[in-house]
Amino acid sequence: MILVAEGIRPGAKQLTKEITDFVGGEAVKPFLLLLVLAVVGCASTQSPRVADSSARGRWAGKTVVITGASSGIGRGAAVEFGRQGANVVLAARRTNLLEEVAGEVRARGGTPLVITTDVSKAGDIERLAQAAVRRFGRIDVWINNAGLGVVGPFWDAPVADYSRLIDINLKGVVYGSHAAVRQFRAQGGGTLVNVGSVVSEVPMAYYACYSATKAGVLSLDRALNEELRLNRLTGNIKVATIMPWAVDTPWWKHAANYSGHTPRMLALDDPSKVVNAIVNTAEHPSKEVLIGWKAQGAYISHRIAPDITETISGNIVQREQMEKGASAPVTTGSLYRPIQAGRFVEGGQREEMKREDQQRRLPAPPEGPGSQ
Ligand SMILES: NC(=O)c1ccc[n+]([C@@H]2O[C@H](COP(=O)([O-])OP(=O)(O)OC[C@H]3O[C@@H](n4cnc5c(N)ncnc54)[C@H](OP(=O)(O)O)[C@@H]3O)[C@@H](O)[C@H]2O)c1
Repeated sequence: MILVAEGIRPGAKQLTKEITDFVGGEAVKPFLLLLVLAVVGCASTQSPRVADSSARGRWAGKTVVITGASSGIGRGAAVEFGRQGANVVLAARRTNLLEEVAGEVRARGGTPLVITTDVSKAGDIERLAQAAVRRFGRIDVWINNAGLGVVGPFWDAPVADYSRLIDINLKGVVYGSHAAVRQFRAQGGGTLVNVGSVVSEVPMAYYACYSATKAGVLSLDRALNEELRLNRLTGNIKVATIMPWAVDTPWWKHAANYSGHTPRMLALDDPSKVVNAIVNTAEHPSKEVLIGWKAQGAYISHRIAPDITETISGNIVQREQMEKGASAPVTTGSLYRPIQAGRFVEGGQREEMKREDQQRRLPAPPEGPGSQ
């Protein structure tokens, strides 16, 4: 059974603004289909559970492991769990940033533990689980959030990049899920939250291998939920897949990019939306959590009309990524080695895209006498 759970739904005013931005000045007709289905998506989901701002202390004494906690969504979630009093085990490669996040967690009343981890290494994940249990006695929630992207024509990136991407985005999630579920079985319960994407359901052109890894995450979670049911473990062990739309985090700076253009996407969401959804899901787990009306609309649209939805999605990426973006050199981003750029929760991508759009609309300089 497909469970379409709620994300954080915007108010009517905000929704109107988001739809206007989404349709935009350079709208193309097929968006309308997506929009109609998005409205159906909004209407068909339950009321949102908005993060409770009075929740200080709610997670006191509980232990949450978060991979990819040095920036973006993982960093935001770590600080929020800290604010709610949790023991927060912070995992990623950039130890200096994890220490910074640990300071924020501590300042808000949580108890941090920093474990430098490369999720592509099974041994690192094993060490992470052991360190969490040694320090806090158990693991209540494990969030596999670390993930990167490779953007551009499939044939232009080397296979080594795809191999590395699969190691991080898929094998990393398998290793993390394995460690978490074994620990949950040993201690009698727990919640696993795996961060997929809307592309777990709707594959996206120029993100082929990324889409494959995120589809793998969703498939892993669905199969795992079945195994738990067959073994009568669903009462105590919960597995949730988080599926956000594109989000304004440092992800865009960290992605390997072979597209020839700066990475861009239509109507980026604020990271707080995803952070709130993760914290809510950890407390009230649903199997599949689609965050916001764009992800819900795209998901439902793809279930009803997969071909046309993939065509629309491909056309959006062609226009946004391959035609509108300013020129950019090839980069492997932080695939092989972490980079210090992109340290915060928010990535500043929406501002950069706005600047690029303004630049593109400027009239071309008049042709001088020397020009041909
Ligand atoms: N932003 C979006 O548009 C979007 C949309 C849907 C889903 N998502 C997913 O959301 C998750 C979080 O991404 P984000 O948007 O918050 O971007 P982000 O800021 O780039 O976060 C990625 C995190 O993963 C960590 N990481 C990368 N490779 C790692 C490795 N080998 N071992 C351990 N940690 C590693 C990074 O830290 P270090 O570099 O310090 O290791 C960083 O903390 C990812 O799974 C992403 O695919 C993002």
